[in-house]
Amino acid sequence: MRVFQVEGSWSPENMRMSTRPDPKPGPGQVRVRMSASALNYRDLIIPARGYGTRQQTLPLVMLSDGCGVVESVGEKVTSLKVGDRVCPLMFQSWPCGHPDRQRLSLTLGCEIDGTMADFMVLPEEGVAPAPSHLNDIEAACLPTAGVTAWRALVTEGRMQPGERVLILGTGGVSLFALQFAKVLGAHVTITSSSDEKLARAKAMGADELVNYRKIPEWGKYVRELSEGEGVDHVVEVGGENTMAQSLRAVRPGGVISVIGVLSGGALNIPLGPIVTGHVRLQGITVGSRCDFLAMARAMSRHTIHPAVSRVFEFARLPSALEFMASGAHFGKICIKH
Ligand SMILES: NC(=O)c1ccc[n+]([C@@H]2O[C@H](COP(=O)([O-])OP(=O)(O)OC[C@H]3O[C@@H](n4cnc5c(N)ncnc54)[C@H](OP(=O)(O)O)[C@@H]3O)[C@@H](O)[C@H]2O)c1
Repeated sequence: MRVFQVEGSWSPENMRMSTRPDPKPGPGQVRVRMSASALNYRDLIIPARGYGTRQQTLPLVMLSDGCGVVESVGEKVTSLKVGDRVCPLMFQSWPCGHPDRQRLSLTLGCEIDGTMADFMVLPEEGVAPAPSHLNDIEAACLPTAGVTAWRALVTEGRMQPGERVLILGTGGVSLFALQFAKVLGAHVTITSSSDEKLARAKAMGADELVNYRKIPEWGKYVRELSEGEGVDHVVEVGGENTMAQSLRAVRPGGVISVIGVLSGGALNIPLGPIVTGHVRLQGITVGSRCDFLAMARAMSRHTIHPAVSRVFEFARLPSALEFMASGAHFGKICIKH
């Protein structure tokens, strides 16, 4: 089968299209013929230097998100049959419940091979049914970016109708957060570097738009937009250069979901406002199989389609990654297998 993998040593130069033997499902496993994959920001980082302290070995099949069809099943598989359309789950080790060391241990395209292969063999619990209203490309967007936004706002965030949410940027996680926040009845402020992207976010339901290039002190501005009170929830994907502004925007007792570090991963900010404001900083790393199932149910009920920015052919994965690095995208970048 064809694969797209990092070979030899960590370097973007070492991303190669290659072949491996076709895998066969063992007991409790299914073989999925992959039809689509989707990129996440960390797919830019992993080929260059691996991913933090996580256990990784080369060669490594790339990307963590995808969709495909069950083509054969091993003995003792009970929940799936040939022909079922499924998404491999980003966390292969987290069925449900709170995160712990074991549940956070195995992710696709990092500790174990990812979705850029003609076939994947996974435990039946390592995949989940793809929502039927989505095509394969759309369904491939769900497992990482979708589940992250869902866990931030719903599972951990326990969002209520009428709450105010601030969402940073118009990337994959952020646009899922916009869509989920709107069906949950929230008032959404979204930031972007581009007025054109802000207009598209407005068409998707955003209530207030802020160009963070034109308004560098956007934290204060967002607080003023909320009658001086501050927002209930911030979907924080910026990190180092955005956290101080996010802290200005959030209300006392509000939540900042700490999701990404697009502008850097170290902080040098006064802790006073967090303490005196009773602000909760909630770290989020994707979510569980149960989070995926709850999210997929809500997406089906509300006919939510992910925002797909552009689709590339399998062999053009490096071009897709370059497109992501350019920042020109609005939502998800996908691969057609
Ligand atoms: N913790 C988790 O579970 C998890 C899961 C997925 C992703 N992440 C992380 O979350 C971040 C976003 O991931 P993604 O896949 O959604 O990325 P993405 O699709 O590439 O989105 C990036 C977008 O963020 C905005 N942005 C970039 N730099 C910014 C800055 N300094 N301040 C404000 N906005 C900025 C830009 O929006 P505009 O073009 O509109 O300005 C950019 O298009 C990454 O750090 C990623 O590693 C974490």
